[in-house]
Amino acid sequence: MNYPIHNFEQIPSTNTAIWELIEKGEKPPFVVIAKEQTAGKGQWGRIWQSNPNGLYLSLALSPNIPVENGIHLTFCSAYGITFELRKYGIPVELKWLNDLILNKRKLGGIKIETKVKNNLIKTAVIGVGINWQNEVFKPGINLQSFLKDNNLNSIKTLEELTNITLSGLFFAYETYLKNGIKPILSGYLDYLNSIGKTIEINGNIGIITGVTSKGELKVRLSSQNATTEIELPHGTISIGYD
Ligand code: BTN
Repeated sequence: MNYPIHNFEQIPSTNTAIWELIEKGEKPPFVVIAKEQTAGKGQWGRIWQSNPNGLYLSLALSPNIPVENGIHLTFCSAYGITFELRKYGIPVELKWLNDLILNKRKLGGIKIETKVKNNLIKTAVIGVGINWQNEVFKPGINLQSFLKDNNLNSIKTLEELTNITLSGLFFAYETYLKNGIKPILSGYLDYLNSIGKTIEINGNIGIITGVTSKGELKVRLSSQNATTEIELPHGTISIGYD
């Protein structure tokens, strides 16, 4: 796929920059990259710390998929980036729903924003933040320190990491458009480190058994005489790191 890349030194947010460029008439697909963000957007309205030497990238797409399939873009992005990074000997895993995990710590995250018309997602912004050499705090990890600690030099520069991330995003998105969600979801589940973990829900202990195609977390609750399977929408509980 051919697409323009807009590079910025310092902007509030690459996601916001995409919407501004669309407003000015730019047509997806295109990419915005910033060396630094002053108001990086994280999930649940949080701020994404975006000091220099991290990867801050957003990709604009026109998927034209039904709004109820919006979650597929999350599966594609998380799966695609993980698939591609693993080619470089980096054992990235996923934490429900869209956290990139390395050594049980947060390596990066994905923030997707969409514009919907007639029940179709007309525009999607896939925002990706990956810790490269930027300072991180618990439970974060940066990729450079992992590579150094493990005597790996498979990725040498932030530019390389950028290209790998973009390859992963496009590879998974194109696979999805061609073959549907099945192969993507199956790959996503293979990388999910949440399966088998125990969690507590309203005083009951449950075991995570998977994720539905709608993005809900599947949990098996067992009491003395019965077993129940429940499906929890994203945002209703959070899973820890260890
Ligand atoms: C998360 O909270 O886990 C998601 C973080 C996503 C951050 C990225 S950095 C590039 C893009 N621009 C933003 O403002 N946010 C996303």
